[in-house]
Amino acid sequence: MSAEAVEQRSLGTAAAEEESATLKEQQDVARGLENFPVSVWPLGAGPRPKPFQYTPDHVAGPGADIDPTQITFPGCACSDTPCLPGTCSCLRHENNYDDSLCLSNIGLEAKYAKPVFECNVLCQCGERCRNRVVQHGLQFHLQVFQTDKKGWGLRTLESIPKGRFVCEYAGEILGFSEVQRRIHLQTAHDPNYIIAIREHIYNGQVMETFVDPTYIGNIGRFLNHSCEPNLLMIPVRIDSMVPKLALFAAKAILPGEELSYDYSGRFLNQISSEDKERIDPEQLRKPCYCGAPSCATFLPYDSSLYCP
Ligand SMILES: C[S@@+](CC[C@H](N)C(=O)[O-])C[C@H]1O[C@@H](n2cnc3c(N)ncnc32)[C@H](O)[C@@H]1O
Ligand SMILES: [Zn+2]
Ligand SMILES: [Zn+2]
Ligand SMILES: [Zn+2]
Repeated sequence: MSAEAVEQRSLGTAAAEEESATLKEQQDVARGLENFPVSVWPLGAGPRPKPFQYTPDHVAGPGADIDPTQITFPGCACSDTPCLPGTCSCLRHENNYDDSLCLSNIGLEAKYAKPVFECNVLCQCGERCRNRVVQHGLQFHLQVFQTDKKGWGLRTLESIPKGRFVCEYAGEILGFSEVQRRIHLQTAHDPNYIIAIREHIYNGQVMETFVDPTYIGNIGRFLNHSCEPNLLMIPVRIDSMVPKLALFAAKAILPGEELSYDYSGRFLNQISSEDKERIDPEQLRKPCYCGAPSCATFLPYDSSLYCP
């Protein structure tokens, strides 16, 4: 075979490989990195979400105080006994999950969501320990689809019982000045993916975590806001002090239903008077098309991210 023929054949193989990679990507936005493929509807040719790099877990981005991939927590010593509150150092007060893998107390109208610590890589308990849920990843088949007025959205193809873990909101962990830099580059028409989580720790101290899945992220980036959502976001810590932003079913969800959460975090963490004062003039806010009877007309707006 001539050198030219070899080169032509290898070019042909490269083109075929590229085509099959594109096909694979069309069939699975998660690129094989989740427990199941996540399809895009309509299947086959047609409009696709803007490309982004897929990661199932947070990655350190510019200005991150803590690298989210580093292990910061010690493990428990439960090798002979199951992890139970009182004896297991990972379970401070009560079980985080019940026997059906549902988050305990999800229905209770507590004012603040309780912190959740799962057993981690340094724990002596096994993989089947009941205090390991979010770390096992997706448990339900989900699909990215085009909504009428909100851009892309995420829906479930299976029923999801109330309290079950659905997916994470993962992306680059950023420092505050990088958040401000990125937000200033956005136009009013760009979808915003940056989320700020504020946790009241103790002594009035607040821990802030900024996650941006715009360029590197997981399927959580396709979740739209609803004023009457079916998911609840809870910070869950496993190996790192940087919380995983885990979304749990706030009610039983039927196949085909769009998944949504309240971008203001108001489901359990009710809005404070301080937050109310920070809410900005209406012209800066985007209209909300969630369609819920109690729709607040505009998307929640975190004015603290938009300071000069
Ligand atoms: C995290 S992204 C959600 C995915 C996005 N729809 C997409 O196409 O990639 C957030 C953006 O989606 C749009 N969005 C989300 N919920 C919405 C709602 N209830 N009404 C109108 N637009 C919404 C807004 O542009 C918002 O900035
Ligand atoms: Zn334990
Ligand atoms: Zn443990
Ligand atoms: Zn709404």
